Amino acid sequence: MAFSTTSKLNSGNTWATGSIHHDSRTHRGSAPPRIRIAAAAQSSGGRVTADFEEGQLERPKWTGETPLSRLVGALISFKPLYSVMKLGARQVLISTAEKTSIPWRDMTKEILESDVYKEKDSIEDTSLVYPDYYLNPFHAYDEGNLSWLAAAEAEAATMSMVRRAIPHASSLEEANQIVRGNWLQAIENHHLKHSGGTRIGEILDIGCSVGVSTRFLAERFASAKVTGLDLSPYFLAVAQHNEKKRNAGENRMRWIHGNGENTGLPSNSFDLVSIAYVFHECPERAIKNMVEEGLRLLRPGGTFAVTDNSPKSKILQELSPVLFTLMKSTEPFLDEYYLTDLEGVMKRAGFANVHTLLTDPRHRTVTATAPF
Ligand SMILES: C[S@@+](CC[C@H](N)C(=O)[O-])C[C@H]1O[C@@H](n2cnc3c(N)ncnc32)[C@H](O)[C@@H]1O
Repeated sequence: MAFSTTSKLNSGNTWATGSIHHDSRTHRGSAPPRIRIAAAAQSSGGRVTADFEEGQLERPKWTGETPLSRLVGALISFKPLYSVMKLGARQVLISTAEKTSIPWRDMTKEILESDVYKEKDSIEDTSLVYPDYYLNPFHAYDEGNLSWLAAAEAEAATMSMVRRAIPHASSLEEANQIVRGNWLQAIENHHLKHSGGTRIGEILDIGCSVGVSTRFLAERFASAKVTGLDLSPYFLAVAQHNEKKRNAGENRMRWIHGNGENTGLPSNSFDLVSIAYVFHECPERAIKNMVEEGLRLLRPGGTFAVTDNSPKSKILQELSPVLFTLMKSTEPFLDEYYLTDLEGVMKRAGFANVHTLLTDPRHRTVTATAPF
């Protein structure tokens, strides 16, 4: 299978083109399928190529009920060790970011010293009841995503995730062309193929965080109305603050403080529901609820798109023990995520055309259609 891409991502400039090929020659016997993606950056005139290879396993050995996974779980549950690991994980995150020229500390300081705080009051729904899983310590923050520090660091953390996914990229832009560009292209291709010609007029970005995925969606589908929804009023405050800064005080996106499991938004009101890098942070019941909510919110022929860690990613399967232990110490639901049969959940909810693609070395994009 192959497809060609031409991505319009940035202020109307066409800046990424590429093609994705599944090489069926290696998909025999026990050999895993290899997926090659070639993305060419028009703005630089250069060509970026990457081998997106699946590992031999269904999921990494450090997840689920394997002895290795249990050992890591036991280490993490030992409180004094957990506190040290949590700090270690944070240091690794910050120093890896700064090594790739992401000014983590400066970005954080700029947000914390800005007038972001005033945005929270206009966004927060004080009657919202948070799901239990959301109130756990998370990503090395004791208050999880419900704090100004987590919100101020979120954009740098997102950039760092993208750089980690494409280590050979010479810049964040180049890494984004693959990670975000291929994700958007998979959505667009799916919609073109299965929507029966409906236009993407309204988009919901569930788990929008500080609005980075929301901005990518808005730039790609430039004529659509875009809504970002998240459980953290702190993250949404940063999203609104950043948008106003970018657009001379104007807030072009709609931000909703809500739960993706039960948004309260009208049925059949969106053409695209996107959930990017959210599910690995959620227990299985929340994943199922968000899939069902996505189906309810979509118009017939609408596209549902999930992008997140791929259990089949060779790189994730072969992660070093230190790295996967640190990662698991700050991601309490990673095991549940890897054990969830996401495609099965989507099919059982009633989605049609469920399709998975490794859109970069670490992440898959799973797309599906709301039936007519
Ligand atoms: C890693 S961030 C998402 C990043 C963002 N979508 C992007 O691609 O840049 C995960 C987000 O999911 C949000 N989240 C987790 N559970 C949620 C739920 N049930 N409803 C809405 N948002 C949720 C968190 O608050 C967090 O902002």
